[in-house]
Amino acid sequence: KSCNITIFGGGNGAHVLSGLSSDVVNANVTVVDTFQDEAERWTKAMAANGFTVKYGNGKDLVQAPGKPKFTVTKEVQKNVEKADVVILCMPAFLHEMVLTSVAPYVPETCPIVGLPGQPGFEYQALFHLRQNGKKGSVMSIETLPWACRIAKYGQEVDVIGTKECIYFSSVDQQSSGYVGAGLVQLIQTLLGAKPVLKREENIIKYTFLYRPTVHPPLMYAKWKNWDGKPLDAAPLFYQGADEEAVKYLDGATNEMIKIADFLQTKYPDMDFSGISSMQDCFIGEYPEQIKDKSTLLSCLKTNQAYDGLVHPMKKTDDGKFVPDFKYRYLMEDVPYGLLIIKQIAEMAGVATPIIDEIILWAQTKLDAEYLKDGKLCFVDRKHGRIPMAFGIKTLEEFVNYCK
Ligand code: NAI
Repeated sequence: KSCNITIFGGGNGAHVLSGLSSDVVNANVTVVDTFQDEAERWTKAMAANGFTVKYGNGKDLVQAPGKPKFTVTKEVQKNVEKADVVILCMPAFLHEMVLTSVAPYVPETCPIVGLPGQPGFEYQALFHLRQNGKKGSVMSIETLPWACRIAKYGQEVDVIGTKECIYFSSVDQQSSGYVGAGLVQLIQTLLGAKPVLKREENIIKYTFLYRPTVHPPLMYAKWKNWDGKPLDAAPLFYQGADEEAVKYLDGATNEMIKIADFLQTKYPDMDFSGISSMQDCFIGEYPEQIKDKSTLLSCLKTNQAYDGLVHPMKKTDDGKFVPDFKYRYLMEDVPYGLLIIKQIAEMAGVATPIIDEIILWAQTKLDAEYLKDGKLCFVDRKHGRIPMAFGIKTLEEFVNYCK
């Protein structure tokens, strides 16, 4: 039986996902892309030149010109109403807008999948379903399965790397359709053998595993004392780290571990194991590529996977560089990551002075106010995903909301 898959998105990840999933037997894939003229450009490019997902190992996935296996459109309602599964594949700051447009039309037999969902996607999607009087299922996958970049819009995308394993959390409330193990199997079939999808049952731990304590501390350490003068070149992001960076990277991560330890004592039945130090986390992720594993700093400086990765910068008119504070390292990882950790800490009653220091600086760069007089005060659903913006004020409410 054929399966109607409706993918929302139009960027790097959406390109790979559309190519891979439309190659699966019986998958009937429609991409809904409402951004500017992307749907039109994608449709035209694919008709003239075909569509290729490039792996660089000769095993590319090629769809011939004029014979695309999926369609790209701006039409929301029709493609949501007929869907067996809806997948959002886009940056987190777009989720609120898309979920608002999807929830009124989505059948109760159709799960909503965030690929990636990132922390808080479950309660945000459930919130919209409940606003529409619906009881549906939600699956949130922690990150994008691939490092990928569009080479030619609507026509060719490069897969630079594929992860081995990624976590997801899910809320299974459907009585029929793709739900539970059936949904996991479907998504795994669309992705292929890798990455392997692994379920994380504990919604709070799932939020910690995303580790929003990497990019914001590195940004803060590098730019907190910046004099505003443009630089001649973009500095290295990981390999350019110093003792100051380590202080904030370790500091923020250790605060997260402190919250997890506290919660483990409070809720002995929930599993909070495996939230490791930053150094162990890097070693676990890059066992081969790190040449000197002796300290966190040496792990950052000698990881070959980080060769050439620089700070996000904007070019000035005279060819110099200034930091781009609106890049996803702050724009996503603070309002869709660190702030959620901060509210969990507040609900647990655990102090987080280092995370607070980073948030107080980041909010000035993001033109927002998240923390005031030491307390979270941000409830804007369009620009962040703090539990309290969805009516969740205690740990019990947090856990129960996503059941
Ligand atoms: P992307 O940066 O390619 O997304 C851009 C697309 O989003 C645009 O093409 C457009 O379709 C849409 N968009 C942008 N602004 C919009 C607006 N104002 N209104 C409506 N639509 C708009 O995203 P990408 O690279 O596919 O990443 C998706 C998520 O995965 C992000 O959260 C990213 O941080 C994460 N991620 C990406 C990786 C990668 O290698 N690309 C690796 C790991 C995670």
